Amino acid sequence: MKVLVIGSGAREHAFAWKLARSPQVQAVLVSPGNGGTARESGCRNVPGARVAEWLALAQHEGVDLTVVGPENPLAEGVVDAFRAAGLAIVGPTAAAAQLESSKDFAKAFMMRHGIPTAAYATFTDAVAAHAYVEAQGAPIVVKADGLAAGKGVVVAMTAGEAHAAIDAMLAGNSLGSAGARVVIEGFLRGEEASFIVVAHGEQVLALATSQDHKRLKDGDQGPNTGGMGAYSPAPVVTPEIHQRVMDTVIRPALRGMVAEGTPFSGFLYAGLMIAPDGSIGVLEFNCRMGDPETQPILMRYAGDFAVLMQHAATGTLDQVEPDWDPRPALGVVLAAAGYPESPRKGDAITGLPQDTGDLHVFHAGTTLGDDDVLRTSGGRVMTVTALGGTLRDAADRAYRGATGIVFDGVQLRTDIGHCALRQHDGT
Ligand SMILES: Nc1ncnc2c1ncn2[C@@H]1O[C@H](COP(=O)(O)OP(=O)(O)O)[C@@H](O)[C@H]1O
Ligand SMILES: [Mg+2]
Repeated sequence: MKVLVIGSGAREHAFAWKLARSPQVQAVLVSPGNGGTARESGCRNVPGARVAEWLALAQHEGVDLTVVGPENPLAEGVVDAFRAAGLAIVGPTAAAAQLESSKDFAKAFMMRHGIPTAAYATFTDAVAAHAYVEAQGAPIVVKADGLAAGKGVVVAMTAGEAHAAIDAMLAGNSLGSAGARVVIEGFLRGEEASFIVVAHGEQVLALATSQDHKRLKDGDQGPNTGGMGAYSPAPVVTPEIHQRVMDTVIRPALRGMVAEGTPFSGFLYAGLMIAPDGSIGVLEFNCRMGDPETQPILMRYAGDFAVLMQHAATGTLDQVEPDWDPRPALGVVLAAAGYPESPRKGDAITGLPQDTGDLHVFHAGTTLGDDDVLRTSGGRVMTVTALGGTLRDAADRAYRGATGIVFDGVQLRTDIGHCALRQHDGT
């Protein structure tokens, strides 16, 4: 079969790489793709930035199956358009994608269905929002309702920071229409984990668990980013917690979406806060795989991912068992100079390690020039991802690969996996 992957990040490179390895797959188109997918065996980049272009591409090329990486095309109805044209695609409809595209929708949905999450209120009026913060006190969390590419959440440790965030979003229009409505919710303590399933209606298969690192600097310091690294599995998700997440978060969510007439299909990602006492709070839903979590998760997928995606698209997930490599995987993101505020582009990249069965470099902000030189073209440049016998081995292997890569101003964290490694090493 011929497969189309929509998107241009390291997540999409990982999808394309994994799909191209399936004996069922003859060709993988990546739209628009990046410098890594341009060179990946079995893959070909095709320009594309809008739903209508991807639909025309899929029809013209005779694509059998499409997998969508990022949230924006989903919120814009790419799945609705493909289904209306009779094309197989993995992802939720625009209506179901509201679980991610509106935080107010997601919170109200969780309340309706008894899914554990922090108490909240939603505001369009700044005066009322300020009053709510005064009544609740800090710490408190202010979130833009709409899609804000990871820039829409302020975890305010003081009431002053919360007031400033409200002013910026509601009065200052700092996030445009995404921030014209804000959700203000209670602060949850604990350790975060990413819990991702593939679903179709009430059919569901849990993927391997993972954890990412959002802050730019070692020790989880510095500004928030799209993610500086991730690893799988996440030891904080014990088998007992796994079961509880399925029973109290995932299944009620899928059941609720069916009951409300907007059944969910595709990847459902619950961002969790797990408190020291084991209680679970949902921070958010995403309606797609995470980036960088996808990179280590797919490194560990031992089955035929194209077959899994076909079952997801056709609603036959009850006929397949996911198959995981028991070895942990860890990915380190190399970011461009100036990331996240104003990443510099155009720096030549050298020193890429050889891809092997247990090490792969997934590209994001790279382009391959006509001169065959690879250059930076975005904030997160690549994720160097490795499998290892232990998490420590995976980290050592990923870091050995990452430290050979050279471009001007490269930024990387040196402590990806530190939470799990500390537990693992007993230090
Ligand atoms: N209620 C909360 N309590 C504590 N921290 C939170 C809370 N909500 C969000 N955060 C922190 O902010 C980050 C981003 O919030 P999230 O809801 O995942 O939004 P997005 O990913 O859309 O930016 C989370 O990963 C978490 O670290
Ligand atoms: Mg998040």
